[in-house]
Amino acid sequence: MEIKLRVKRYNGKDQYFDQFDLQVEDRTTILEALMYVKDYQDSSLSFRAQCRSAICGTCAVKIGEHHVLACKTKVKQFAQDGVLTVEPAGNLPVIKDLVTDQDIFLLKLKDAKAWFVPPEKFEPVYPDDLKLYEKETDCILCGICYSVCPVFQTGQEFGGPVNFVKIYRFWKDKNDALKDQRIVIADKNRITACVHCKYCSFSCPKEIPVEQDIFKLRFFGKQKGIIKEEQEGFGGFSTPFGF
Ligand code: FES
Repeated sequence: MEIKLRVKRYNGKDQYFDQFDLQVEDRTTILEALMYVKDYQDSSLSFRAQCRSAICGTCAVKIGEHHVLACKTKVKQFAQDGVLTVEPAGNLPVIKDLVTDQDIFLLKLKDAKAWFVPPEKFEPVYPDDLKLYEKETDCILCGICYSVCPVFQTGQEFGGPVNFVKIYRFWKDKNDALKDQRIVIADKNRITACVHCKYCSFSCPKEIPVEQDIFKLRFFGKQKGIIKEEQEGFGGFSTPFGF
């Protein structure tokens, strides 16, 4: 089918839309369409991609109200009346066209201590242990949960959904030396600013239950007295969970 690919461009000064006409098939991905444009129509078009297999997490883009991995998403899923509009992922500064500056969210991961801290003595790990954090291990740091999170638009200090996925993953690992210190880290990352809108869970290309993980960390932290809930939430927003 013939489509019009509208791409939001940025040249360091101005933002504007460019439109490209191209022929796609049912199986054509958004990334393949962008690559076709770059190869045959406008070599100055900039976007990020490496693995083309939904593994490296570099190709996140915004399509209408959705954020997707361009390499995993077919054009026909989102083209409306033969038009597909592609914009850079949200909540991040744009460097050029669809290339965003991911330093902000990658640096925030330091605040989450997003790495395994080895114990003095390792316990054996069984398949059932791995199931506790199997989904969270799939995180590819694509930043989509960060880009869809409304909390950043309030200007609050907030670690971001990906931080809590990492905190949850290591908190559930019986060999991680930090144990419940992970909950203290969640508190420092302002977990109570989360409004539980679930955009992160609905948007995650790896189907990680991000919001549920945040809820479990928050619930446990509150029960243990590590997390205090008196911090004000998101502009007085009250959640279905009574926070
Ligand atoms: S190119 Fe690697 S996730 Fe899309």
